[in-house]
Amino acid sequence: MSSTDSHSTPIFSGPAPAHIGIIMDGNGRWAKQRGLNRSEGHRQGVENLRRVLEAAGEFGVKTLTVYAFSTENWSRPIAEVRFLLRIIDYYIDRELQALNERGVQLRHIGDMSALSKRLQQKIQRAIEQTQHNEKLILNVAFNYGGRAEVVQAIRRIIEEGLPPEQVTEQVVSSYLYTAGQPDPDLIIRTGGEMRLSNFLMWQATYAEYYSTPTYWPDFDREELRKAIEHYTARDRRFGGVKETHDTK
Ligand code: IPE
Ligand code: IPE
Ligand code: MG
Repeated sequence: MSSTDSHSTPIFSGPAPAHIGIIMDGNGRWAKQRGLNRSEGHRQGVENLRRVLEAAGEFGVKTLTVYAFSTENWSRPIAEVRFLLRIIDYYIDRELQALNERGVQLRHIGDMSALSKRLQQKIQRAIEQTQHNEKLILNVAFNYGGRAEVVQAIRRIIEEGLPPEQVTEQVVSSYLYTAGQPDPDLIIRTGGEMRLSNFLMWQATYAEYYSTPTYWPDFDREELRKAIEHYTARDRRFGGVKETHDTK
């Protein structure tokens, strides 16, 4: 197999990111470009998640956090919102077995309380059924907003009566939906926009950003490889300076 073969594992010029966040954007435009309904774009988007998840596992990614529905997405037409709610149902029905076979641990980040009781239970069951899988963690951000996440953390910190001097960055992190998980190393946005749209704003402070015009349904293994390759070439300084720099 040559290194360009579509199924060989590429050798990156540095370590692959352990945690990648993906803003899966552009489903609507993908559909419009083909004269289809936006819902067809979302359907193809779900199909693509399976492919990208598989490629991420092959590339050594340990955690993948995908933005599926934001707290602002409720403002879309009701029919589209309903369709997006149904998609999560459909995803669990279709993918649960494959997630288990591939060693993927499913988690949810966001506010579940806005979902129907039935859907909440279904998500909860899927989470429990994959909780011992260890190859890769898939965080699905559904009804997720970075600001809402910080607000719920502050509320719980106050409710629990923590003294102000005990509220450190580590403590705040431990009250977020992603408690106990490493911060993302790389945030990928498909669909060309250069914004975070309320995704992982606390966790992504030192993530590298990568934006591609490719719409999410077309973002394939090769596109992911390219994004990771760009990441490995970045110089992550975390506010410091390189030893070789003149620090005087
Ligand atoms: C991303 O695709 C999926 C969700 C936000 C749920 P969009 O639906 O935002 O697609 P565009 O950006 O309109 O093309
Ligand atoms: C971000 O996409 C949210 C998700 C991908 C789920 P949007 O399409 O909602 O973001 P904006 O409106 O372009 O900022
Ligand atoms: Mg969009």
